[in-house]
Amino acid sequence: MAVSRFGVSLETDLLEALDKYVRENNFPNRSQAIRQLIERNLIEKKWQCNHIVAGAVTLVYDHHKRELGCRMMEIQHDYYKEILAVQHFHLSSDTCLEIIAVKGQAHRLTELADKLITLKGVWHGKLVMSRSDDIID
Ligand code: NI
Repeated sequence: MAVSRFGVSLETDLLEALDKYVRENNFPNRSQAIRQLIERNLIEKKWQCNHIVAGAVTLVYDHHKRELGCRMMEIQHDYYKEILAVQHFHLSSDTCLEIIAVKGQAHRLTELADKLITLKGVWHGKLVMSRSDDIID
């Protein structure tokens, strides 16, 4: 296969981390290490899309944004097949924490999380997914 060359700009600390990675894994050079990192990432994406995974969406949001609660509920109803349970904590008079346990195709879970996390009034949001071989759909 033809090989193309390209330049990469990295911050000093990232470059140091890369060189450490090269040494620790006995790569002959940086190119080999970067190639392996990219391939690994692509493989991970592939299985994520095609496999059933389990995980959680964590959201921290503004309690006073009234329409936010309604919008969140609507989105969650669109994904009722993926949502296992929702736990809501009132963190303070202003702040809510919601943890949504999910299971389903990784691309559906990513879609759901993206819709929730990008809502106005959501301060922080994160989706964590785990492949679990004992999960039978
Ligand atoms: Ni609350």
